[in-house]
Amino acid sequence: MSSPEFDELRDHEYDGIKEFDNLPPGWWWSLWFASILFSLVYILYYHASVLGWTIEDKWSFARDSYYQRLFGELGTLDGDASTILEMSKDEKWMALGQGIFLANCAQCHKADGSGSTGPNLTDDHWINVKKVDDIYRVVSKGVAAKGMPEWSSRLGQNQRVLVAAYVSTLRDHPVAGKAAEGEPVPPWSAAPSEPVSSAR
Ligand code: HEC
Repeated sequence: MSSPEFDELRDHEYDGIKEFDNLPPGWWWSLWFASILFSLVYILYYHASVLGWTIEDKWSFARDSYYQRLFGELGTLDGDASTILEMSKDEKWMALGQGIFLANCAQCHKADGSGSTGPNLTDDHWINVKKVDDIYRVVSKGVAAKGMPEWSSRLGQNQRVLVAAYVSTLRDHPVAGKAAEGEPVPPWSAAPSEPVSSAR
């Protein structure tokens, strides 16, 4: 195939084997450029697409449909004390509650709940909370004047109940962090309080 002027022998020899000083063959160059082209297409497709093709898009799509499937199983949760306490004992739902907490709340309350901008949620002192369902109410309505956002417009009802239930478990493992603020609150109980099925 190759023309004779390319077939110049190089001057070294090993075990009787000599080699030509030729350029890599055409198929090799094609593979080389094809792999560069492929990597460009790959990066655009999986990492920078605006059309919803990226890994992140697929992940959030999968997560949303996972939530929908799970929440289908739950129905719509009430934000009352007994629902919150019941959810707080379920490992599966608390893993989800923790995920919601890490994604939305950790920036102000720290991943372990020990507080930075927002108060330490792992101690027995609370500012706005006397009963466990107050957590759900604070999460839903926020405390605008003090910098705690309302989450009704950003998290669904079930997400707010689950994250409130997760927060209610944090005091079981106090973490030294931001100094206690507010008043000491006795352990949660499911004692009925005023009806609060939908603080929005
Ligand atoms: C932008 C910062 C910020 C984010 C994000 C945030 N918080 Fe807060 N949070 C605060 C601040 C500040 C307070 C204190 C309000 C006060 O002093 O009355 C607070 C108070 C609270 C309280 C009441 C504590 C108490 O002692 O009364 C709870 C419960 C709470 N946050 C839960 C959450 C949850 C759950 C999320 C995520 C869905 C969240 N927060 C996200 C800043 C934040």
